[in-house]
Order: sequence, then structure tokens, then C-alpha cells
Amino acid sequence: MCGIVGYIGKRNAVPILLYGLQRLEYRGYDSAGIAVLEKEGTKIIVEKQVGKIKDLHEYLWNKKIEGNVGIAHTRWATHGPPTIENAHPHLSQRGTIAIVHNGIIENYLELKESLEKKGFRFSSETDTEVIAHLIEDEYEKDLLNTVLKVTKKLEGAYALGIISTYEPDKLIGVRKGSPLIVGVGKDENLIASDIPAVLEYTKDIIPLDDNEIAVLTAKDVKLLDFQGKQKEKKILHVTWDISIAEKSGFKHFMQKEIHEQPRTIADTITGFSSQDIEKIFSKLKDISRITVVACGTSFHAGLVGKFWIEKYAKIPVEVDYASEFRYRDYIVDDKTLIFGISQSGETADTRFAMLDAKKKGAKTLALVNVVGSSLSRESDFVLYTYCGPEIGVAATKTFTAQLVVLYLFALKLAEYRGLISEKEFDQKYRNLLHLPTVVESILKEEKEIKNIAYNYTKADDFLFLARGLNYPIALEGALKLKEISYIHAEGYPAGEMKHGPIALIDENMPVVFIAPKDSLYEKTLSNIQEVKARKGKIISIATKGDKVVKDLSDETIYIPKTKDELYPIVSIVPLQLLSYHIATFLGKDVDQPRNLAKTVTVE
Ligand code: F6R
Repeated sequence: MCGIVGYIGKRNAVPILLYGLQRLEYRGYDSAGIAVLEKEGTKIIVEKQVGKIKDLHEYLWNKKIEGNVGIAHTRWATHGPPTIENAHPHLSQRGTIAIVHNGIIENYLELKESLEKKGFRFSSETDTEVIAHLIEDEYEKDLLNTVLKVTKKLEGAYALGIISTYEPDKLIGVRKGSPLIVGVGKDENLIASDIPAVLEYTKDIIPLDDNEIAVLTAKDVKLLDFQGKQKEKKILHVTWDISIAEKSGFKHFMQKEIHEQPRTIADTITGFSSQDIEKIFSKLKDISRITVVACGTSFHAGLVGKFWIEKYAKIPVEVDYASEFRYRDYIVDDKTLIFGISQSGETADTRFAMLDAKKKGAKTLALVNVVGSSLSRESDFVLYTYCGPEIGVAATKTFTAQLVVLYLFALKLAEYRGLISEKEFDQKYRNLLHLPTVVESILKEEKEIKNIAYNYTKADDFLFLARGLNYPIALEGALKLKEISYIHAEGYPAGEMKHGPIALIDENMPVVFIAPKDSLYEKTLSNIQEVKARKGKIISIATKGDKVVKDLSDETIYIPKTKDELYPIVSIVPLQLLSYHIATFLGKDVDQPRNLAKTVTVE
């Protein structure tokens, strides 16, 4: 996830671009840059810095760059580490085109190869640079037509901002899969990834849809589809206060991030195969055991991963708290894989557990969200989730993305070990592609979940119960609730209830069951009945249409039917919403809960 902004008008573009970048910093903050067309329009000046927008700001302070047309970018690294070379904007070979990009070009290697054959040299490791060279290569007297031609060659998701010395009176914005809006001003127009970036200059907005292009001059905005057909769209007048707009209209970052999951799940599914799969799996196929080390939510993801890895790759898996693992006399050898899971890639316990195990001869693999984080640099191999920055302290979108990667990891390892065929992998990969739609439909039930949440704001304790693959989701549901609402909650395997926790149940105890129609459904049903017999309040997450569970429960939240093994990825979503709404009803600071930090770099 990155932020882009562009300006064309009568004023100096530089301060306007910097202001826009500051409003988009939540989208990424590892490097930033601007490109401005010099007044005569014959040269594009590009300036970049590694670090936050304020570093770029300070760097530009004495440079006195001026121009009325420009684009800018704040980066959250995906392809290539955060360096000046990889920072945007990217220039074409002869400096005629500058481009900023948010998204991923999936076929960039192919495009790069054919451009290199034509003599183009690349100065970055990004997937973006190919677009600048392609436009320069294909340009024939008309920038818009060239951009239209180039979009046909690009696969993946992108929002682009483009300026050119060929036609210095134009700024072009393109959207396919990544957000882009046009800000319509008086004698000036803007593009941006999100509304806050333009609010200072205009409140008249045109949000672009997928497969749309905007051609901006200082006086005019022309909208077209990818076939070049002109479109008319209504201008939206926003009355937003900037602080709300930063959360894109959501009350909290946590709520926004819960709602981003259809996109982050989709990005992580497609991002998986863009990684160095051959290098990772050819080296890992002969390992004899795996220990997952992680903390908090990432630990829960590891517990689900264990089921998938043992089932498909047939390798024994242990899952350990990083803070426990590193202090015991664990046994590893060169056939042991230590698999560290960490959103931030900076959690001290996870890092030091991995470093220690590596020293003792184990192989190490990190699954992180933050590109360039310590864990990603210190491990032998890295896999990524593609979520963009997670700002809410409670992990939400990164958890579901971790599950997606763990599932694909298990399958890919099985394929490399000859346990499933490439065709079977592809089939299961394709099954994942419906998950964004499933999650989307759960998010549509938010109002209903909010009503349920209201009924439980007075509870002092909660139990979360489930079996099998969904048992870690009970743990995660309980963690979400306690960390943001400060209500005591415990997660348990449902079958363990009768060995102790059942003593807690009375008419004041809400018990959340995750009870999808999977192979353990009948067993979970018996546990629901046991709670009902003791007058506990039952809140069930059940498969759509399941009347039996509904009749036994005080509240039922339906989730769509999916493959048994994929339920954990979707069943957590209603629990995230339930916790969120209980906490907001209680007036808690959900984005920054007391005593917690997003990244725990202390041991
Ligand atoms: C819970 C939460 C924490 C983190 C834990 C590990 O919502 O956010 O429990 O999961 O601190 O953090 P990472 O994944 O960054 O290592």
C-alpha cells in the first residue's frame, strides 16, 4: 500500500504535493519522492528520500524547485527494499516520463525482459519502472493513446500518476484495483490515493472506478474508460473534517482495517506467487520438522498453520510462544525449520528466538507484513503478507492474511515434497479466490453484529469455544475482546470445557461458539447443549441456514458456507467486529488500547 498525489495548476506544485503526502503517510512511510515539470516543460526534476515525509520536506527546503505540474509518492515497500533507487517517482530512460504507482504489476518480469532486449536499462528493483519505460517506448504523438495501449499490457492492480515532457500541460491518473480520486479545483486539478490529500484545495471529488483514466489540465478534467470512450461522472462534494477523512470515513483505524480484509486477503493470495517460491521451497522440502515461534495474534495464526502443514506437507509442527521457546533447552538441527510469524517483523522475543535457533544450526523462515523489517533481514527466507500498514494496535487484517500465507505455504511445501500435484495446488489456490467475497458478505452484517454487541457490554467475563482448526480462532476472538474492551475473556478448545471451565458457566456468562458445519460440527453441537443446560448465554458463529444452532443460541451470526479447512479465515471476521463494537460502546480507545504498543521491541 502506497500513497500517490498529483497536481496541475497555476501554483507551485511542490508545497501542494508535500501537503498531500503528509495526509497519505498512513499508507506507507519508508521512502517518499516528488517529480516536477520545470516551468518550460522540457525537463522533469525528481527528488527522493528514504524515511518519512518530514525527511523529504527538510531535504527539499533549500532546493527552490518550482513547477506547476507534478506527482508525488509515499512508499510502503513491496518489490525491493526501501532505498532511494526504489523510491518513486520513476523516470523513463530518456527522462521524458515520470510515474508514481500504488499496487503490484504481476507480469513486470516478463515486461522487463522484453524492454531490456530493446536496450532499456533499469535503475530500480521495483515493478513500477517498467511502466515508465513502456510509455516512452510506445509513445507516438499522443500521451493518452499511449497510456491506453500500455494499460492493455499490464497485469495486476494499479493506480498511476503520470507526467511527461511530451505533453507538459497534462497530468494523467489511471485506476485498476488500487484507489484513486480526482480533486476538481478552480484553475487547478489534483489526483490522489485518498481524499485527505486534496481537502485543503478542494472538496469537489470524483472517485475513479476500476479501468478508468483521468486526463487533467489546469482547466479541465476528462474521464475515459480503458477503451478510450469518454465518460461523464458526478462530482461529489465532501464536507469532511480532515481527521475523519484520514480514516476514510471509518470511526477508527481498527474498523477501517477490518473492512479492508477483502482487499488484503486478495492481495496476499496474488502476492504469494510473486515471491521467490522456487528458492524457498526447493531448500525447505527436505526439512524434518517445523517449530513456529510467534507472539499474540501471530501465535494464533501459527496454531492454525500447524493443522494445514501437518495435513498436507506431513511434517510435524510445534507452535511455541517466542518468549518461552528461547529460554528452554530446545533441540534443533539443520533439518529443523524455525518459522517466525510477526506482523511488524520487529517483536523482540520472536527476533531473538529466531537468531538463537539460527546460531544453533536451524533454518529460519520469517512471515512478516513490514518489508525491510529486522526479522525479514535476519532470516534465511522470507514470506510476506500484503496488507499495507496496520495502524490499529489490535491486529485484524494481518491475521487473516497470515492465515492465507500459512495455507499456501502448507500446500506449496506438499507440492515440492511430491505429496500433491501442481494441478491440486492450483485447484486449492483457486478455492481461496472466493474468500474476499465471503468476507465482504460478513462485513455487510455489521449492523446486526453491532446490535448483538450492545447486549453484552455489561458482561465481566466471556468464554470463546471451538474445536479443531477453529480452536485457535476462539483464542484469537478472546484476545481481541480483552485487549480493546478490557473485558476478561478466555478461549478454550470446546472439548476441554468439561475438564474445568464448565464450572464458570451460569446465566451471566456469555459463551461464544464458533460452530461451522465442518467435520467436528456434531461434537461442537453437544458442547453448545451442555452450556445451554447450564443457562449460559450462547452467541454462535454458524454456517448460513443452520437452524439447529440458531435454535440453541441466544444470538446467531451466520457466515457463508465455505470449504471446511478455510473456515478459520472467515470465522474470525465477525469476532473482530463483535469486539470492536463492544469496546466502542464502552467508550474505549480501540486504536490505542491502554498499556499496549503496536510493536513490542522489548523482551
Ligand atoms: C494482538 C496484537 C499482538 C501482536 C503481538 C505480536 O492484536 O496485535 O498480540 O500480535 O504483539 O506482534 P507481531 O506480529 O508484530 O510480532
